[in-house]
Amino acid sequence: MGHKPVLLDEVVTAMAPKDGEVLVDGTYGGGGYARALLAAAKCRVLGLDRDLDAIERAGLAAEKEPRLTPILGRFSDMIRLVEEAGFSSVDAITLDLGVSSFQLDQAERGFSFMRDGPLVMRMGRSGPSAADVVNQMDERDLATIFFRLGEEKQSRRIARAIVQRRLKAPFTTTLDLAGLIEEVLGGRRGAKTHPATRSFQAIRMFVNDELGELARALEASEHLLSEGGRLVIVTFHSLEDRMVKLFMRERAGLQGGGSRHLPQKGDGPRPSFDMPSKKAIEPSEAELAENPRARSSRLRVAVRTAAPAMDLPVSTGVDLPDLARLEASS
Ligand SMILES: C[S@@+](CC[C@H](N)C(=O)[O-])C[C@H]1O[C@@H](n2cnc3c(N)ncnc32)[C@H](O)[C@@H]1O
Repeated sequence: MGHKPVLLDEVVTAMAPKDGEVLVDGTYGGGGYARALLAAAKCRVLGLDRDLDAIERAGLAAEKEPRLTPILGRFSDMIRLVEEAGFSSVDAITLDLGVSSFQLDQAERGFSFMRDGPLVMRMGRSGPSAADVVNQMDERDLATIFFRLGEEKQSRRIARAIVQRRLKAPFTTTLDLAGLIEEVLGGRRGAKTHPATRSFQAIRMFVNDELGELARALEASEHLLSEGGRLVIVTFHSLEDRMVKLFMRERAGLQGGGSRHLPQKGDGPRPSFDMPSKKAIEPSEAELAENPRARSSRLRVAVRTAAPAMDLPVSTGVDLPDLARLEASS
């Protein structure tokens, strides 16, 4: 089955494409957003994804739609990627964070605790895998990842059980790890979600440095968007939504942006973004009934002003172990 895009109408409305504009879809995935944007105006869409499978799909779509330009790469790197595609600024950027159904459905990608596959969880093709995380990290670091990225209350118990078990045999498959977590948490007991949901999400976010990617993409967007340019971001995790909210509020010069770098209101730099609404847009009841994946999605929008970039660092808001310390085994 394909990927059902979340908050699609709301994203197209916020992106507000016009004829002749250049838009970035930083998370091409199954191309749901890109297709709708291309249909809404005679614009160009630069479709980025770090996953080669997604870019191969985009390549096929681009054979029929020359206004789509597929680009393999990470959205944190979008300034360089957009320049290489021949543009120095763009009119709108959208990000739809997380994994696609294509990635979840392919057992060999190792994202799913419902399908047995190798413990990989990488969106790209290189770097440490989920197996490297659970087989190499010390118990404290594992617990930190589960607690901070998965909001897993039993983080320490799970980390301890992983470290004990791997002394006998390293983890190699998704069901092996999911089974152990289920054992530690005492089975499903009628719960709506699988007991491994939070831990798998945490490992995936860590392996792909998802918060770091978002921080760098937010910084890049301030440089890349032209005046009037729209930044349209869909998140699925409270930490990500918080980062986006704080970034937009800070750049819009609103108090409560949480930055220690900004002077008091009134004597700070001119706002580099406006926020048409301070509130996040949430999926409608109708969408929730049709697509349970939309449950935790939040959409936030900001519009670039003419002011120079503030150029302040964006923080992920959490301290995590260093991914680069791990040795990639495959
Ligand atoms: C939720 S899906 C996007 C679905 C898309 N909006 C659609 O309508 O089909 C997220 C996609 O973003 C990609 N992705 C996640 N993080 C990325 C990053 N840092 N750089 C580039 N692509 C990324 C994933 O590989 C995945 O294909």
